[in-house]
Amino acid sequence: MCGIVAYIGHREAFDIVVKGLKRLEYRGYDSAGVALMNGDLRIYKSQGKVSDLEAISEGKDKSGSTGMGHTRWATHGAPNNENAHPHLSQSGDISIIHNGIIENYVTLKEGLIQRGHSFISDTDTEVLVHLIEDIMEHSKLSFVDAVRSALKQVVGAYAIVILSKNHPEHLIAARKGSPLVVGIGEERGEYFFASDATPIVEYTKKVIYLKDNEIAIVENQEMIIKNIENVVQAPYIQELELNLEQLEKGGYPHFMLKEIYEQPKSIFDSFRGRFNSATSEFHMRSIEEYGDKLKDIKRLILLGCGTSWHAGLVAEYLFEDFARLPVEVEYASEFRYRNPVLYSDDLVLAISQSGETADTLAAMDLAKRKSATVFGVCNVVGSSIPRLSDAGAYTHAGPEIGVASTKAFTSQVTVLTLLALGIARLRGTMNIKAIASVMRELEQIPEKVEKALKLNDEIIVLSEKYKNAQNFLFLGRGYNFPVALEGALKLKEISYIHAEGYPAAEMKHGPIALIDENMPVVVVATNSEHYEKVVSNIQEVKARKGIVIALVTEGNTSLNDLVDHVLEVPETIEYLSPLVNTIPLQLLSYHIAVMRDCNVDQPRNLAKSVTVE
Ligand code: M6R
Repeated sequence: MCGIVAYIGHREAFDIVVKGLKRLEYRGYDSAGVALMNGDLRIYKSQGKVSDLEAISEGKDKSGSTGMGHTRWATHGAPNNENAHPHLSQSGDISIIHNGIIENYVTLKEGLIQRGHSFISDTDTEVLVHLIEDIMEHSKLSFVDAVRSALKQVVGAYAIVILSKNHPEHLIAARKGSPLVVGIGEERGEYFFASDATPIVEYTKKVIYLKDNEIAIVENQEMIIKNIENVVQAPYIQELELNLEQLEKGGYPHFMLKEIYEQPKSIFDSFRGRFNSATSEFHMRSIEEYGDKLKDIKRLILLGCGTSWHAGLVAEYLFEDFARLPVEVEYASEFRYRNPVLYSDDLVLAISQSGETADTLAAMDLAKRKSATVFGVCNVVGSSIPRLSDAGAYTHAGPEIGVASTKAFTSQVTVLTLLALGIARLRGTMNIKAIASVMRELEQIPEKVEKALKLNDEIIVLSEKYKNAQNFLFLGRGYNFPVALEGALKLKEISYIHAEGYPAAEMKHGPIALIDENMPVVVVATNSEHYEKVVSNIQEVKARKGIVIALVTEGNTSLNDLVDHVLEVPETIEYLSPLVNTIPLQLLSYHIAVMRDCNVDQPRNLAKSVTVE
């Protein structure tokens, strides 16, 4: 994980770097640090957040128009000052920031120790900067060539920026397996580097997404990009679509709440312009360009982690119902280490908000090596997953900053619904009228989500009542079983309450033993073909004195006497019900977390983009 930012140009670097680090704090907040160059190399770092770094650098010399910074999610070594980046070489001349993992650092470190190096931190990163200096000393290679040579010895993933006191006109950045974006400033010689485009967007819209094994070298105000074999590369300069307002809280107390409330729009943006409900036609490149392939696929394998895996579970029902395809939904972290049997007529579809999840990338890579067609459904434009995919679709949810995924989930489900319908049309498994009727209902969903958001006040009252519960159970069936899983994940990740999601009927095979008068059970009991069965499951909970919070379809008062609380959500077709039913569960976890004084946007131990396995 970790976030990195760097700047070289004519302005003061400190403010640009620190502001950028704040935007990247979602990637980790165990420690933060900066390095500034102004004749000498000054480093300030602190355990904790970027605000702690600001506090400790108060009153110190912050001058310098070249600088870099890092916000850390600890992998190797505890989250303390010593392990905070930037790290220095043995002589203190070279400094590095790094996102990723150097897998062979132990071997490299042993060699360096034998050659007289000593280390301050427990990190893999410090080894790399020592190695660069060691190469410069022993082989007399230039600074740039020594970096290249060191990177050739590295096994693992990295996005790095390197500065050297003895080469003040240089800034070197490189990537392999971890993202790195370069912004090209408006004035000559001005460049911005960051783990994603959010720290860059307010200065320039012109960016280059570095590719794996590329090294960007700024020297005397000019930048060239080379590959690791020293061959000059022609960069592809892209125009950013991101704007600054999307990165602000816009009056909400937390990004998570803002993102929950953005869902009517983000869902709309996810389907806008992609189909015509009058003609049942799709305007999606992946469907248009891969039509022949998609018509003949025999199996769909969905890959993802966390919330994205839950979106995959919803999609399993959609693809089975609409496209009549056999579907498997896999945790990417498990799939990557199996020896899966894949055929060239399999479609593997990776789902990811960030597009940088290491396990998902590795699982895609495995699928590609085994000749499957690999699609991606992703939110972050230009990230690694879309670049590794043969085709796919962006979710267009806009930047999601809160670590707990909310709008990304509903946008993923929206796009997966379109893909399932599109493939159903290609395969002829649904008639045009039936497709059009789902499309028309999808067009109503933003309004229904808007209505579901109006439950907020009722949910605040409920949250107050149950904020001190030790455990929660979430139950759902069919399309709403993944919604139960997602409700439980949201609650545990931001409020630290233990919660489990279960298929309602599975409860009697174990979890029912947990139920007593202290156990709140949230049951998704909206209209569906399993409604009566879900009501029986509610009876089972009530018979054991459990507390039931039931999500029911608007107008259904039949459970009022049976359950403890009822939340009425707008009616929709079962296929699309996860899009509406997820909303109250997101609000419930949000309010409980706020009432428990938890850091909603940056929950402990988590990071938004899990770029390590
Ligand atoms: O960026 P991705 O969608 O690939 O991330 C996958 C998970 O890390 C992510 O969904 C995680 O579970 C969220 N914190 C859930 O809210």
